[in-house]
Formats: sequence, structure tokens, C-alpha cells
Amino acid sequence: MTAQILQLIDEEHAVISRLLRLIEREVEQFRSGGDADLVLLELVLAYMADYPDRFHHPKEDLIFAALKRRHADSAAFVGRLSLEHERVAKLTRDLAALVERLIEDASMARNVFVDAANSYLTFQRVHMAFENEILFPAALAHLEPQDWAELDAELETLADPLSGAGRDAGRFQRLREAILPAA
Ligand SMILES: [Fe+2]
Ligand SMILES: [Fe+2]
Repeated sequence: MTAQILQLIDEEHAVISRLLRLIEREVEQFRSGGDADLVLLELVLAYMADYPDRFHHPKEDLIFAALKRRHADSAAFVGRLSLEHERVAKLTRDLAALVERLIEDASMARNVFVDAANSYLTFQRVHMAFENEILFPAALAHLEPQDWAELDAELETLADPLSGAGRDAGRFQRLREAILPAA
């Protein structure tokens, strides 16, 4: 049975991949002389600048902390992971700032934005491939069932309380009900 934490990461990667394809479509449109939906790009990057850092990267960091305890040789991977998470966060903020500039000044050189966006897409994809092809297989090879059970128990702290799950769900229940669509 696959650990719940890996299933969630997999679902989150699928969402991130779809968002990257959406960015790619807009950038390609823009590169070929058309208009990009800058408001949509702004929204995607606002999501990417915030939520993966709060709910996605911490899950991966937990897995790699466990891997480090079980298999010291994998420690080098762990270093790369946290550096890349910092880099992803910075690249996301930089690209979001570029979109803001483009919204304010439509005369900005197209290739500046296109090049930055393409570097961003490549970095994100290489990072995800590193996780999927190297780090998760290493974790699956070296972690014990009890490690996975402990990781799944930690998920409680990483759920968005407004989803109705996780440790803080009770505290925010009234807020969740207040914003649920009326039946
Ligand atoms: Fe990651
Ligand atoms: Fe990831």
C-alpha cells in the first residue's frame, strides 16, 4: 500500500504540472506576438508563491528528513532539495514581479519575460523530475513501514484547515461553514 503522504504529493505534482502547462501556453502565445492573459498568469503565480511552500514542500522535506535518518548516503540529496525549494520560491516571486511590470508597462521587451518564464518552467520540471525519479525511489527503498506511518501521522499538521481536514480543522470549522456555498 502506498503511503498517504506519497499519494498527496503525487496529486500535488499533477496540479503543479497542469499549472506549468498553463503558464507555458500563455508564454507561447505571448512569444508568437499574441496577447497573454496576464491576470491569469498573475493568479497562477500568486498560488505558486504561497501554497506549495506551505503545504507541498514541507511534506517533501519530512520525507527527506526521514531518509536522512535511515540512509546517510542520501544526505546529499536532502541538501539539494531544500536549496531547490528556496530557489523555486525566489524564481516564482521574480516571475510574478515581471508579470506585474508587464501589466504596468506593456512595452517591456517580450523576450525578457519569455526567457525568464522558460527558465522558470525548466527549473520547476527538473526539480519535480529529481523528486519523482531519484528521491522518492530512494525513500521507498530505504524507509521502513513505521517511518511511513509516522510521516502519514505528520500530515495532520500540513492540511489546509479550510479543507475540513487536519489538526486545526475544528478551530476553523465555523469559518469553513461561513464560506461554504449555501445549500
Ligand atoms: Fe519539491
Ligand atoms: Fe514536489
